Amino acid sequence: MTNTKPDTRPNNPQFSSGPCTKPSTWTLDALSDAALGRSHRAAVGKDKLLAAIETTRDVLNIPADYKIGIVPASDTGAVEMAMWNLLGARGVDMLSWESFGSGWVTDVVKQLKLDNVNHLHADYGQLPDLNTINFNNDVVFTWNGTTSGVRVPNGDFIPADRAGLTICDATSAAFAQDLPWDKLDVTTFSWQKVLGGEAAHGMIILSPRAVERLETYAPAWPLPKIFRLTKAGKLIDGIFKGATINTPSMLAVEDYLFALDWAKSVGGNAGLIKRADANLQVLADFVAKNDWIGFLADDADTVSNTSVCLKITDPRVAALDADAQAAFAKGLAKLLETEGVAYDIGSYRDAPAGLRIWTGGTVENSDLVALTPWLNWAFETQIATL
Ligand SMILES: Cc1ncc(COP(=O)(O)O)c(C=O)c1O
Repeated sequence: MTNTKPDTRPNNPQFSSGPCTKPSTWTLDALSDAALGRSHRAAVGKDKLLAAIETTRDVLNIPADYKIGIVPASDTGAVEMAMWNLLGARGVDMLSWESFGSGWVTDVVKQLKLDNVNHLHADYGQLPDLNTINFNNDVVFTWNGTTSGVRVPNGDFIPADRAGLTICDATSAAFAQDLPWDKLDVTTFSWQKVLGGEAAHGMIILSPRAVERLETYAPAWPLPKIFRLTKAGKLIDGIFKGATINTPSMLAVEDYLFALDWAKSVGGNAGLIKRADANLQVLADFVAKNDWIGFLADDADTVSNTSVCLKITDPRVAALDADAQAAFAKGLAKLLETEGVAYDIGSYRDAPAGLRIWTGGTVENSDLVALTPWLNWAFETQIATL
């Protein structure tokens, strides 16, 4: 059987799950108004930082009484800042179902060494039983598991009258999935994810209950300056008005402001969700038509519309040992990269062998449509070598 290359290539082969592709209208000119060479504490810098905060509120429909801060060290910085400041006041339920959630469990068990920890874990492809979470405890979870492509379907599992705080790593969900702010006490994300911005800075969003905890509880362990959100028992309010803890990159800020403007131009949060859903649909149709490939997520309600993780289900591949399966999947990604058709679509290093294709709103639907015949081409090319 001949396996000819498809005629059409994606215009943009960038399908990485982070840093994610920039909006198609982005050029370096987007950064020309950056406040470079100026103090971030001068009015010009502070205004831009405040605009980044308030435009985030506007696009994500974050309530007026929630605090939004720009913090160091991308999403990891924001999540660890939350855990180091807030945990220890009560027990904690830690949820994990893929690599990043598992990383937060390691933080809590091995670094913070908390003893009252309830760990709810599920394998790649599944969610832990959300009905068994103890919301009298604080609860730490990832909204969208980037390395398994499994997300929580909605916030219904979180009670309105919980006693503990919910701390949610939403880095691959914010700007693509509906986040119910009344159910989330701490939410974090990075600019480098769904909006295709730059890494380096994280966002931390605090509910009034999270602020109350910060002002009434002091953890037993030391907090480096880079993590400190309070001074003498009071929230450092300036952080949430653009007076960052330390020096931010004003180039990255400018880039984020561009991304937020672009987000507004495609219909804001609702428009972004629609774009991600339509992108996922292209891959769902592809999976339905081809029996060599399937979603890693077991339940259709939990399939991510940003980090779509796919496993190879063809029996000839399934019969191989684990190393050969991984080599097969890597070979597919390599072939597509060499063709300049898709970059960075191998599964995450700790995740099961397969492909991971980003479908957040900055990805153009037509590029995914153009990619799918190439997936079949790569599979046929590779299977012929077995
Ligand atoms: C769910 C999740 N949490 C945390 C991170 C780490 O993000 P960052 O490198 O922006 O700190 C990632 C990155 O892919 C992620 O997907």
